[in-house]
Amino acid sequence: MTAVVRCDELRKSYGELRAVDGVSFEVREGEIFGMIGPNGAGKTTLMECVEGLRVRDSGTVEVLGLDPERHTREVRERTGLQLQSSALPSRIKVGEALELFASFYRRPADWRAVLARLGLTEKASSYVEKLSGGQRQRVFIALALINNPEVVFVDEITTGLDPQARLAVWDVIRDIRDQGSTVFMTTHFMEEAERLCDRVAIVDKGRIVALDTVPGLIGSLDARSRVSFALDGAATAPADRLRALPEVAGVEEAEGRVVVRGSGDRFAQQVMAVLAEADLTVRDFRSEQPSLEDVFLSLTGRRMREAA
Ligand SMILES: Nc1ncnc2c1ncn2[C@@H]1O[C@H](COP(=O)(O)OP(=O)(O)OP(=O)(O)O)[C@@H](O)[C@H]1O
Ligand SMILES: [Mg+2]
Repeated sequence: MTAVVRCDELRKSYGELRAVDGVSFEVREGEIFGMIGPNGAGKTTLMECVEGLRVRDSGTVEVLGLDPERHTREVRERTGLQLQSSALPSRIKVGEALELFASFYRRPADWRAVLARLGLTEKASSYVEKLSGGQRQRVFIALALINNPEVVFVDEITTGLDPQARLAVWDVIRDIRDQGSTVFMTTHFMEEAERLCDRVAIVDKGRIVALDTVPGLIGSLDARSRVSFALDGAATAPADRLRALPEVAGVEEAEGRVVVRGSGDRFAQQVMAVLAEADLTVRDFRSEQPSLEDVFLSLTGRRMREAA
């Protein structure tokens, strides 16, 4: 397995604040590698150190075997960047922007072909500022692909997009991988990481707190599944009988609902059998598979939304 990005004990502080606090990991050739974490976790700082846009305090970084601070030019030639704060001059047309960016590189792609690949051919002579949010993000991806990069860095590409535009951008990201490039991305959408990334690093307070495939991360949870339901009137949950099931790890009551955590193929079925036996009227029975949100909660004790 070839590593296209390798970091070892990478650190970067802003004054007293340790934005990246000793991070080691590898991004493998041909994968979509995601970093997920709350606002301020250090994702952008980490990515900018990897890209050579920021000078790290200590540790090593290799991109395609090169130190981005020492071999800036070659790393720039062989990688593509979509920055979180991407901006273009307001009076520039899509085609002009691509042509301009193509001129920065020794071996640029045919910019018209890149536009076509992103479904933007008809927009070549539109002003960038007149595009929809989703179209504009696709322009930024096009700019990141203009030099046929081996690795593409993508920071929060779908923030602010509606669900449909988000799906379209996900297809583009998958296509980049399927065409043979490696994608290194950040997001704070759990679902995006779950659906898109081959491997995910969970970042919190400047550190990687877990790194694995999504099924691997979810599989590491003790209680892997959850069912919840409400009971009619004054009925009480047969908590003791539920707890006695070998599949059940815990029973809690919150906001009028009973939440049962557990694992095993027959977990939900066993819970239902106990409820039926107790002759209880159950409303709104839900079975939930655990998500990366549960992984984050179990690792940090906080929900991602509240963690920033
Ligand atoms: N140029 C800077 N100067 C000082 N502090 C900074 C600077 N850039 C970032 N920080 C701080 O460093 C921490 C990490 O910020 P960073 O932008 O890397 O987080 P992030 O994980 O990308 O967050 P988000 O999800 O909001 O994009 C934050 O506390 C932020 O306020
Ligand atoms: Mg960021």
